[in-house]
Parts: sequence; structure tokens; C-alpha cells
Amino acid sequence: MNLKKLSTLAMLIMFVLGAAFAQSNISVNYLGNNNTMVKFKANQKYLLMPIEESAPEAQISVLINGEIMQQMNVRLAQGKKDYLVPLDLKAWQGKDIVLNIRTANDRSNVRDSRADVCWKQMELSNTFDAKNVEKFRPAYHHTPLYGWMNDPNGMFYKDGVWHLYYQFNPYASVWGNMTWGHSSSTDLIHWKAEAPAIYGDGLGTIFSGSSVVDKDNTSGFGSGAIVAIYTSAGMTQQQSMAYSTDNGLTFTKYSGNPIIMSDQECRDDKVIWNEQTNKWNLVMVAALEHQVLFYSSDDLKHWTKEGAFGHGYGAQDGVWECPDLMQLPVRGTGEKKWVLIVNINPGGPNGGSATQYFVGDFDGKQFVCDSKPECTKWMDYGKDHYAAVSWSNSPNGRHTVMAWMSNWQYANAVPTKQFRSANSLPRDIELFKNVDGEYYISTTPSPELVALRGKEVKYGQFSVHKKIISKKLPLNADGLYEILADINNSNITNVMLSNADGDRVLMTYNSAKHTFGMDRRRSGLVDFSSDFPSATVAPTSASKHQTLRMFIDRSSIEIFDGDGRFVMTNLVFPRSPFTTISFQSNGRSKINNLKVWNIKY
Ligand code: FRU
Repeated sequence: MNLKKLSTLAMLIMFVLGAAFAQSNISVNYLGNNNTMVKFKANQKYLLMPIEESAPEAQISVLINGEIMQQMNVRLAQGKKDYLVPLDLKAWQGKDIVLNIRTANDRSNVRDSRADVCWKQMELSNTFDAKNVEKFRPAYHHTPLYGWMNDPNGMFYKDGVWHLYYQFNPYASVWGNMTWGHSSSTDLIHWKAEAPAIYGDGLGTIFSGSSVVDKDNTSGFGSGAIVAIYTSAGMTQQQSMAYSTDNGLTFTKYSGNPIIMSDQECRDDKVIWNEQTNKWNLVMVAALEHQVLFYSSDDLKHWTKEGAFGHGYGAQDGVWECPDLMQLPVRGTGEKKWVLIVNINPGGPNGGSATQYFVGDFDGKQFVCDSKPECTKWMDYGKDHYAAVSWSNSPNGRHTVMAWMSNWQYANAVPTKQFRSANSLPRDIELFKNVDGEYYISTTPSPELVALRGKEVKYGQFSVHKKIISKKLPLNADGLYEILADINNSNITNVMLSNADGDRVLMTYNSAKHTFGMDRRRSGLVDFSSDFPSATVAPTSASKHQTLRMFIDRSSIEIFDGDGRFVMTNLVFPRSPFTTISFQSNGRSKINNLKVWNIKY
């Protein structure tokens, strides 16, 4: 045998041995066409599991002494590993663990599953690398450390801390295994990843819900206990409760679960304290019937069904999800009105998911809408604003909301890997009365966001006409900006963001139609879904003077009208950061006070 052949053989032996050593503390046993058992001792913090997103889900039961500790569906890699996800072993240190795995059902014999790459690449480890490495990972928007996220839910504020829970899949960056992930913040900008707060159980996975601070101990779980009410999504959808006596870090499930049962597809509980009736109110949706159901309670455990609202009102397509109910002040008046938020999917103004709302009166039992049934009001006019709900117990009577910044049309396919989906920036809402006599939500970026402003660059005042006027955005900003512009619009004014790769986002004020539009069809990566390339339109006030406030992160643009009359949230995946802002008008328009800040986070 020549030297070359010898060294190849040696390498091969080392490779085989290496692979065997890598898993020598993990024993993999192929037991049948669809059953593999993995045994190991929990002497490290994590078992890292290789995931292939296109693989079918295997069902894993985590057993200790034969008892099921946790169950989940995991896309264990068959042909190739896309990334690793951690199974957290901290609670089971020193214990013998058995993973009883029903591998995906399309395997015709035991050999098929033996060849899967997941078995060789599973490893025990004391670390899991969740570094912020992806190009499209937002810098200053909330994202999960890894894995999939949808709806923000269960949010509450207490003792200077904003708690944010979210629909989380800890075992892949696509939807599944719904768990309440948890992050906390003292400034609404910087989020600390906390351990997941509520895992699924025998009643099902944990869908959206809400939390309240039970200051007066109405539930008996202790004064100041956090009480979470959420949907248990099992064979059917029922409502359950859990409480926390450590400010939302860990929760104990209530022994009387489920607390509200129904034979309809009901979900997404939102609980509020009603000062007028001195009772708790709960709203949830009968999703397929397009109905919001109202309940009341004295102790958060026993609920009485009151009224329902929805038939024939507003947008009626798809399913109704994630409702919220609150009383909002009307700007510039002493008046207050009740607002019922209802997220809808599909059926939004731009296709897919969106957030509608109704303004009216609520007496603790019935909601009466002020507007005609055919009137639909949208909270955000972009394509990527869903499941918007508010924080409970916000300070100073604030109504602070956050939305999931994606759309069910393509959320599972956006070009990220280590994580999928971010939340919108936090926003504060109130109402304003419009010239048409209707009340609308006015949305402004939460005041905390001003702290993100880094160096300010002023571009002064200039006129624009047919010729395109381009301004370089500050360098070294890494594509992260807040932009503010006062526009005196004579007719149609275009505002365009672009980069050296030819990606661009075109925004247009039309003063005849009173609209603002945003076109992302050439904004970079758009072909991962045919529903992604799109142009969205919002109504503006009739004024020719418009103030544009824009937040740009690595994969999103949020536009806020200066008066809070419209918001537009759209994802974008530019090949490189936007470097230029350009203006053009088909009349003579003026840009006053164009200011750009780089974002400091
Ligand atoms: C909305 C929603 C909710 C449900 C959750 C499940 O996006 O479908 O109705 O509770 O997501 O993850």
C-alpha cells in the first residue's frame, strides 16, 4: 500500500473513531421501523439535537425512571443538519435519561432511520452557541435567542420591569411545540432572554394568553402574584391558568385546569381589571365564528359568560385571533372610549395577517360598536403586523402595545435560520377623533425609543421636483437608522431608500388621494414566497404637510405618521444595508428638517 493510500485509510479510521467517540456517552438503539431509543446520563447542561427544517417531525418523549417528563415534536435531521437546538437538561442533572423516539412515519424499515445524520451529530454539551450571527437578525428589535417566535403574549409590567412572553418553539425555527418564551427589559429596548416560562402539558401546548398582576390577591395565590391565563391546545382548545410568585420567572399550573371549557375553537385569552365594575373581564375569540366572547370574574378562577361581539362586523375572513380590550383616552378631550382589538388571518388589507379594531362602549358584559358593521379600521397598514396586544399594568396609565412583525403567509420561510421572527418596536396608543366623526387609534413609537438616537445628522431644507435628489445616509451606522422628515407635498412625492446592490424601497405620498404607499417589490430577497413582494397603502390626513418618522433595522422598516394617524410595518431583506435616501416630486415639494440618527443600542 502506498503512502497516500495509507494516510487516507488512517484518516478514515480516525474519522470513524471520532464519530464513535463523539457519541460514546450517548447510546443510540434502533428498535423498529419507527422507534429509536437514545440513552445518556444528564451530566452536561444540554443535549444538542441536529435539525433539518424540511424533515418530518419525530415525536420525542423524555423519560426518567420510565416517567414522561416532556414531550415534543422535533424535525431530527435525516439528510443534512441545518442547525442545532438544545434540549435543556439543567433540571435533570445526574439522572439517566431515555429519549423514546417515534421517528417519522414514512420509514419503511429500521435501516432507513439508522442512516439519519441526527444520531451521529447529537451531542452533550455545557454550552449552546446562540450568538447573534445572522445578517438579517435585527439589532434593536426583540427576537428570541434561537428558535421560532410568533405572537407576543402575557405581557405585564411590575417593579420597573417589562415582561414579554411569546409563542416559542424551542426545537426549531419553524412553528411547533408552543411554549411561552420569556424576555424582560427595564427600558423597553434591551431585552434579556429568560428561561421559557410555561411548557406544554397533558392538556396540550401553550397557545397565546395574558397575565395580570393580582395586587389584591383576588385569586388567593398571594398578593402581587402574576396570574397567566392561556389556551391549552390539545385535542381541543381549552383555557387554563398558571401563577407565579417570583414575578413571572417560573409558573405553577393551577390544579383546576382547564378553567373555561368550550366545544368551539376558542383561544387567546386577554384579562383586564375593569375599574367601573370592580371585576376582572376576560375576552377570547371563537376563532372560526368571528366572535369575541366576554367573561367576568371576581377571583380569576371562576368565570361567568357575558356577551359576545362580532357577527357581521369589520373584516370577516379567515380566523379571528388574539383579542385585546382597553379603555383609551381621546386625544385633546377628557373623553374615553373602549377599544376592542381583533387580529385576523387571513383577510388583512394587504393579504394574510393584520390587526383590526372596533371603538365603542363596554359595560363589563356587552361591547357596542360605534361604527357601522361595514366599517373596518386597521391598526397598521403594513404586511407585517400581527397579534398586537398590550402590556398589563403599564406605568402612568400607558397603553403600550407590541406586535409580531411577520405574516402567516410566509413567516416560516423568511430567510433567517438560527431564529425566525422579531417583534415590532413598542408603541403607545390613544384615540383621536377624525373629521369624518369616527374615532381612530393614534400610534406613536414608545417614548423610550428616543434613547436609541446616536449621532444626529441634519440635512436642512431643500426643494424637490422632477430631478432625483439623493442624500447619503451616515456611514458607520451599519444600516440602522431613525429618519425624520417634514414634507410639504405639492402633489406626489417619492422617498426612496436604496443600496449599492440595486435594492430599493419606494415610498410615495399622494396628496390628491391622501395616501402613503410603500413598495418593497425590489427590496432585496423577495422570492422566498410569492406573497412577499408587495406594495402597501395607508390613508393620510388631507393636509399637504406630512411628518415621516422611520425606523430601519436589518430586516424591517416601520413608518410612523407624525400625528400617529397611520403606521406601516414591513419586513425587507436587502442584500446590503440601505445607504442612500432620495426624493423626487412631480410638483414642487419641500423637505424641511430632514434628520437622521444612527441607532445606538
Ligand atoms: C396567532 C395564533 C393564536 C394562537 C397562536 C399559536 O398567531 O394562531 O391564535 O394562540 O398563534 O401559536
